[in-house]
Amino acid sequence: MTRLTRADLDALPAYVPGRNVADLARELGIAEAIKLASNEVPYGPLPGVVEAVTEAAREMHRYPDMGVLRLRDALAERFGVAADRVVTGCGSVALAETLVKATCLPGDEVMFSWRSFEAYPIIAAGAGAASVRVPNTAAHGHDLTAMAAAITDRTRLIFVCNPNNPTGTALRRPELDRFLAAVPSDVLVVLDEAYRELVTDPTVPDGLETYGDRANIVVLRTMSKAWGLAGMRMGYLVAQPEVAATVRKVVTPFSTSLVAQAAALAALAQEQEVVRRCALVTAERERVTEALRKLSIDIPDSQANFVWLPLGDRTAAFTAACESRGVIVRGFHPDGVRVTIGTPEENDTFLAAAEAALAA
Ligand SMILES: Cc1ncc(COP(=O)(O)O)c(C=O)c1O
Repeated sequence: MTRLTRADLDALPAYVPGRNVADLARELGIAEAIKLASNEVPYGPLPGVVEAVTEAAREMHRYPDMGVLRLRDALAERFGVAADRVVTGCGSVALAETLVKATCLPGDEVMFSWRSFEAYPIIAAGAGAASVRVPNTAAHGHDLTAMAAAITDRTRLIFVCNPNNPTGTALRRPELDRFLAAVPSDVLVVLDEAYRELVTDPTVPDGLETYGDRANIVVLRTMSKAWGLAGMRMGYLVAQPEVAATVRKVVTPFSTSLVAQAAALAALAQEQEVVRRCALVTAERERVTEALRKLSIDIPDSQANFVWLPLGDRTAAFTAACESRGVIVRGFHPDGVRVTIGTPEENDTFLAAAEAALAA
């Protein structure tokens, strides 16, 4: 057969979305399955967002504002930065892709810790860039010393995922300070802070406040998690104006949709509710962590809305055993399982499934 696509993409693993709850419930013959696999916050859209989206939808025959002016202004005001430093996109994953497109030519290197966000190698390969994966420490966090040592003159972009997906581990200020000081000024460092709102440890720096003014730092955030807009697709970044302007040139035109812009604006007005929900999630995170440790699983401390079970070769069996009890979790073979924190009831169902799975 004639080859129509790039041969180097054949070996690339596909992004694995969380399994569909309705399918699993049907398969098991139960009323409801639970999905704790995609790091969503479980409390539904924020107040006023559905109404704002419904209103905006009346204009769906028109293109959205390509400059995303109102939303960029609102984000700029919230963070105390100039609006020309803000870029929005169809989820932060799309912006991660755009950042690689804006920095890398084929053969250049994109570095990240591994395991980390599973989209990074896919994004690098899409741009024809080489992925440099630096193994996590034994404590499941970024090995910043090894990452600094792995920088070459081909390195163009480094993702630092803080807190790290899927392990939940977080980097503290002194180690980040040291690492950033070691990165050459012509290498872009993307601080991917998708879970920033869930961080409770005051020693974990806010990347924007602490490092946001540096020329080679980009802070990447999303409204998919704490802000309840995963299905709307709205992510944003804050960079220096020159970097932001270049990113804006290559971002897919109109990719922050009309309804996503309206949803994000309405959500930003609900900060107190976001804080309240995050507190519920982080309290549950601590409870679930404790309960799993009692089951003798060596859970690293998480600063996100999920926990990491480093089950090694038990990963597949554990994931399947949870699914057979109606709980969808996310297995990363052969390293471990990531479980999103749900409502207290969902977490109880998961903990019962986990206990049974480990006993089996
Ligand atoms: C670390 C990290 N970055 C980025 C994303 C992408 O989020 P979104 O594209 O929904 O904004 C995710 C989603 O799981 C993530 O875990």
